[in-house]
Amino acid sequence: MRTTVGIIGAGPAGLLLARLLRRAGIESVVLESRDRAYVERRQRAGILEQGTVDVLRAAGAGERMDREGLRHDGIELRFDRRRHRVDFPGLTGGRSVTVYAQTEVCKDLIALQLEEGGPLLFEAEALVVEGAEGDRPRIPFRHQGREDVLECEYVVGCDGFWGVARKAFPDGISRVFERSYPYAWLGILADVAPSHDELVYARHERGFALLSMRSPAVSRLYLQVPAGTEAGQWDDKEIWEELERRLETDDDWRLERGPITQKSVTPMRSFVHEPMRHGRLFLAGDAAHIVPPTGAKGLNLAAGDVVTLARALVHERETGSPELLDAYSATCLRRVWQAERFSYDMTTLLHRAPDATPFDARLQLARLERIASSRAAETDLAEAYTGFPLA
Ligand code: APR
Ligand code: PHB
Repeated sequence: MRTTVGIIGAGPAGLLLARLLRRAGIESVVLESRDRAYVERRQRAGILEQGTVDVLRAAGAGERMDREGLRHDGIELRFDRRRHRVDFPGLTGGRSVTVYAQTEVCKDLIALQLEEGGPLLFEAEALVVEGAEGDRPRIPFRHQGREDVLECEYVVGCDGFWGVARKAFPDGISRVFERSYPYAWLGILADVAPSHDELVYARHERGFALLSMRSPAVSRLYLQVPAGTEAGQWDDKEIWEELERRLETDDDWRLERGPITQKSVTPMRSFVHEPMRHGRLFLAGDAAHIVPPTGAKGLNLAAGDVVTLARALVHERETGSPELLDAYSATCLRRVWQAERFSYDMTTLLHRAPDATPFDARLQLARLERIASSRAAETDLAEAYTGFPLA
């Protein structure tokens, strides 16, 4: 099998890249190790920056998002039983975010790819990337039990944190920067209308809590739990009671309960692999970097990477110049590190570390107080949350 761009992984990074290349007339093949149902069921975050919304729309993948996505003009910070709203458009010159689940983005892109795109093979596991330094890199893969090879001009590893593409970087070239956190998120989906019309990020002595949503009838909520917790350790009643405690306010706000339909634990990690390119192999999305979910940046970073890469590939084809491909890693990493910084700040602002001292707790409150009382501090948060311009 031969193609121009071999893409490993059909998460948002791989699927959006295939779509962008297709629109530009560049051939690609996507290899995805899981089956379609698994990819379409996987629960992930659900906040799209304005730039991501614009890209999906321009790629002709925005129809359902425009119909079902919920525009959000702010978030609420909750601390000390108080509520502080951050108004995005007012602070950023009109920017907002859209609540539309990553799962839905993937479903839309998969449907488009199967209808009008190049090959997208499910249950096709890339085994390794060979020859990244030469002219014709190759991806040996196993498709429904049969071994085959995809020969490409370029290979893009969109295969997430656990993928194989990153491993093809020689040891002397890879540099890894990482941090793990001693806590995780227990997430639930519940069939109940969200108890607030915007996201609520709560800092509480017992730990962080987040109220989010999937639709006007489905709530998505998270609780900070110790790293290593398993979802089964919490029963439904305990989850609601703990959410209630952490989200409690001094006014008459109430948390509505409903049947929990899904429960899972998300680990928290910061991770960057530099560089994001080696020869004809490129990394995009979680394959190159992970952020803790507190800033909702993962999907948006993946979109930024593939937009940058698609533009560089088109530029090379049209002008013969590799300058944008050569700049790919540095261009992406500037944005990646800003997202790493913001995600780390939001995480440490709102979570309770197991070894936190009373001093640490007071500092968190002072940081929150500062955001609530200084337009400059609040603007900093609003700008980062709504997103830095896509490359
Ligand atoms: N061969 C083929 N496919 C693979 C392989 C392999 N060897 N290894 C992994 N994959 C697939 C996975 O099954 C998955 O579908 O690669 C895909 C990677 O997708 P994601 O993990 O969704 O990563 P990405 O597309 O970069 O999206 C980033 O996902 O984790 C969230 O917070 C993150 O929102 C961000 C987004
Ligand atoms: C989500 O809705 O899943 C979500 C929202 C905001 C975050 C993280 C996750 O910061």
